[in-house]
Amino acid sequence: MGAGKSTAARAVGGVDADDLIEAAAGKSIPEIFREDGEAAFRAHEEQAIVLALGGGAVTSAAVRGALGDVLTIWLDVDVDTCWERVRGSDRPLARDEAEFRRLFEERRRLYAEVADVVAKDVHDVGLAAAGVHVERGSLSRLGDLVPGDGAVALVSDAHVAGIHGMDAQLALGPRLAETHELPAGEEAKTLTALDRLWQELRLDRRGTVVALGGGCTTDAAGYAASAYLRGVAWVPVPSSLVGQVDAAIGGKTAIDLPQGKNLVGAFHWPARVVVDPALLETLPESQRREGMSEVVKTGLLAGEPLWELPDDELVRRCAAFKSAVCLRDPKDHGERKMLNLGHTFAHALEAAAGYEGVTHGRAVALGLLAALRLSGRETAVVEELLRPAPVEVDRERAWQALLRDKKGALRLVLLGDDGPRWDVEVPAGDVRRELDRLIAS
Ligand SMILES: NC(=O)c1ccc[n+]([C@@H]2O[C@H](COP(=O)([O-])OP(=O)(O)OC[C@H]3O[C@@H](n4cnc5c(N)ncnc54)[C@H](O)[C@@H]3O)[C@@H](O)[C@H]2O)c1
Ligand SMILES: [Zn+2]
Repeated sequence: MGAGKSTAARAVGGVDADDLIEAAAGKSIPEIFREDGEAAFRAHEEQAIVLALGGGAVTSAAVRGALGDVLTIWLDVDVDTCWERVRGSDRPLARDEAEFRRLFEERRRLYAEVADVVAKDVHDVGLAAAGVHVERGSLSRLGDLVPGDGAVALVSDAHVAGIHGMDAQLALGPRLAETHELPAGEEAKTLTALDRLWQELRLDRRGTVVALGGGCTTDAAGYAASAYLRGVAWVPVPSSLVGQVDAAIGGKTAIDLPQGKNLVGAFHWPARVVVDPALLETLPESQRREGMSEVVKTGLLAGEPLWELPDDELVRRCAAFKSAVCLRDPKDHGERKMLNLGHTFAHALEAAAGYEGVTHGRAVALGLLAALRLSGRETAVVEELLRPAPVEVDRERAWQALLRDKKGALRLVLLGDDGPRWDVEVPAGDVRRELDRLIAS
């Protein structure tokens, strides 16, 4: 600090990282420190910088050369749409339609040359920036989609291994060095399961852990990868709806302790996430419903009925929404908290039930009802689509669990007129009343 870096950078036509951070955060550095803390500022510093390059930049060989080491995304929009958007504007190269179309054609070749990923809209850009590849049939291209050239250890859910494991192995080809299984479901997220996995792994530091299964497998294998040899790359291949729209995205990994879920874990961003919606065809209906609760949550946050979309598009849009939120706030200091919509109530209900007899999806659906009511919103979509039955748990036990979860002020995620709001203080009486409504007497 005080060395004159910013001045020096600007003097040679460069930019200062602080300016980029302020622009991204929408507030000044002192405000970030005051309102969000130093940790939040450091998180901004670590974040990937996404730069929108001018349309003609690629005509320079020097720029094309510099893009070699940078993830380059081509936002490929057709010329008619582009022209409609810019005609009549004061952009110097958008005055003459014929000239505009000629430039467009001329540059396409260069875009194709530099692009690592082709995106068709803003959602694709979010997915690409987060390293998430959504494509039907992508499991069969797994060998090409796992970055790097080191050995691969395939870690699968024992049940899913029997259904899709062979396809994954074939797709990985000669890079596949070892295969491992984790117990299906939550049992994967234990020290016992990881102890065994760590002892079996033979990868060196250039290797990659590929995790095939639902959220339990990706959480456990991702955490295993974060600590093995002080961290090796990993690629989740989520096979459940929960995994594809939520768990495998955003770099949070964890295992459980007897004291509670997800108590030991790490932020470990995947080298890539390979999402193949075709895997969902073998998913039991009950597990699909689990995922639909998170889909409805995502749609409510996004302000769009994403739950109405056909499967592939539903997965793409939900995965893109979570990707963008997590890219903007990877370490959960601010807006990532919105992903907890309905979850304070859900966790209280699950805890009151002793984590038996109430699935997470059902608890989230109920929690969404409470969050919508406290936000003064309609609850029809949750009632009609998810039909969550109230749970039979002890009211006092649920309330105590909610208070324990919150420690101090009751701050919730609610839906405001201009989007989701987090850390909203809600009077205890209102929270208690809404919790009670979720419980069958
Ligand atoms: N890291 C995060 O950000 C995050 C976010 C949300 C949830 N999670 C975690 O995810 C876990 C829940 O994930 P889940 O709901 O996927 O559970 P899961 O991994 O237990 O999978 C559910 C069940 O479906 C089976 N299954 C999975 N894919 C299948 C397929 N294609 N065909 C047939 N069967 C299949 C599995 O064998 C399992 O029995 C929880 O532990 C939760 O904490 C993590
Ligand atoms: Zn959830």
